[in-house]
Amino acid sequence: MTKLERLLELGKSVLAERDVDRMLTIAIDGVIELCHAESGMILLFNAEGETVFDVARNLQKEDLGEPESQVSRTIVERVRLEGIPFWQANVLDDRTIGRGGRLQILSVICQPIRDLGRTLGVVYLGHRSDQEAFTEETAKLVASFSELVSLAARNALERRQLTRHIGLLSKELRTRFDFQAIVGRDPKMVEVLRLVAQVADSDATVLIRGESGTGKELIARAIHLNSRRRDKPFVPINCGALPEALLESELFGHARGAFTGAVRDHQGWFERADEGTLLLDEVGELPPALQVKLLRVLENGDYSRVGSTQIRRANARIVAATNRDLEEMAKEGRIRRDFLYRLNVVEIRLPSLRERRSDLPLLIRRLVDQHAGRRGPKRLAPEAERLLLAYDYPGNIRELQNFLQRAVLLSEGETIEVRHLPEALQGWEPPLTTEAEEEALPPGEGFRASKQRMIERFERDYLSRCLRKAGGNISLAARLAKIDYKNFYTKMQHYGIDAAKYRSLGEEELGNGRDIPPGLPS
Ligand SMILES: Nc1ncnc2c1ncn2[C@@H]1O[C@H](COP(=O)(O)OP(=O)(O)OP(=O)(O)O)[C@@H](O)[C@H]1O
Ligand SMILES: [Mg+2]
Repeated sequence: MTKLERLLELGKSVLAERDVDRMLTIAIDGVIELCHAESGMILLFNAEGETVFDVARNLQKEDLGEPESQVSRTIVERVRLEGIPFWQANVLDDRTIGRGGRLQILSVICQPIRDLGRTLGVVYLGHRSDQEAFTEETAKLVASFSELVSLAARNALERRQLTRHIGLLSKELRTRFDFQAIVGRDPKMVEVLRLVAQVADSDATVLIRGESGTGKELIARAIHLNSRRRDKPFVPINCGALPEALLESELFGHARGAFTGAVRDHQGWFERADEGTLLLDEVGELPPALQVKLLRVLENGDYSRVGSTQIRRANARIVAATNRDLEEMAKEGRIRRDFLYRLNVVEIRLPSLRERRSDLPLLIRRLVDQHAGRRGPKRLAPEAERLLLAYDYPGNIRELQNFLQRAVLLSEGETIEVRHLPEALQGWEPPLTTEAEEEALPPGEGFRASKQRMIERFERDYLSRCLRKAGGNISLAARLAKIDYKNFYTKMQHYGIDAAKYRSLGEEELGNGRDIPPGLPS
């Protein structure tokens, strides 16, 4: 048999296996043999990136002292986060990966198992001899193999999720998404949590608004978990992720033969969320035709599967979330007003991270601890902390979380330093204050005129500061500005600046004034 044939055989057995653990066992043994690997593992993650299934061969999972297990850990974590395949004939040449101790050679392939843009898991293979170092061809083989595992894993995970949906809301999740997991001491957040507690137990439709990454989904889950429905499914759906026709059949289900390819009856999300909570995420993206249909469900609970006339009753609590300005969209005719009013029975507006800066220190602490996890405690160097506290987080908590997750990963020791933070953050300058911004952008003036005015203001200010520092001495001021005397003088005249005004002020008075940045372009 050729390798490809063996791969296909292996794929068949993997796909035929319904039990996740058994499927992984077949997969790991098969791929190790196929690639002549010495050691290997397959991990599957949940949406939070935690390992939910694993199988390993010739790797001491628990033995942290073992050099190979440290190296494999680093690589697996990198592949999990980046979703990019990894292949190196000898990883020990790469200092960012770690030291091999007495190990000299370690050839590694680590392939993400991807599904719909998410990294479901990884396949890791290792070999310690250079005679058997992995080739690019083998890396490609593993890539195809991981696609097969992806299919098998998705099926297996979905099955498991369906049968265990009550178990899924087990204690772990409950504490994770309970109020204790939500950092919010800022008065604006306390108000949000109070509202959540107040509306959770009713069946009222809730509309959660807030910028991207402010925790809309987290709050939706908190509503669910604090309601009577807590032991029933919480089903989040992204209304922007699917084309209209597909979205409709996913929402309401479809009957066999409803359209080409509908070979079986299909349960929709409404049915899956029966007695539970349905989160309509990105609800602004819902096409108008579906808004009409949803409105009907919201009003009397009736709907039918696509291609069927049988009336079904929906019993799911609806929570909707959006980061769009729905009123504006209503004006443009993209959201129906009747639909909007019906959704907006209770509105919860989540503050951006900029509006609740007092929560930043605690959030940073929590997220660092959370990501450090078993790596042991991590602390922040003072300068790194200062940068994190000063930044304005357009991506809100998700952005902060990404920064810290990366920093924890990059920092080998106990301390997160500035160099472990993204460059964007390191070079970040606070924007103009709102006042200055408004001045910079009077409506109707346009870009060129605004820019010109700001430049002039800057030049006038800069020249004056140089003159002040130089005690009114024009040639000294020109030298400070690093432009020639004539140029400086012309600009002074242009702005009507009088050098004499600065002569009365002595140098010492100015010593603690603001520093002048070097060089003004002439
Ligand atoms: N108050 C909070 N305390 C702790 N973690 C939070 C808090 N708010 C949000 N998070 C975390 O930040 C991340 C983003 O939150 P979430 O997915 O709920 O945001 P979102 O508003 O739905 O974002 P998007 O608009 O991009 O979908 C999640 O990992 C969530 O657990
Ligand atoms: Mg969301």
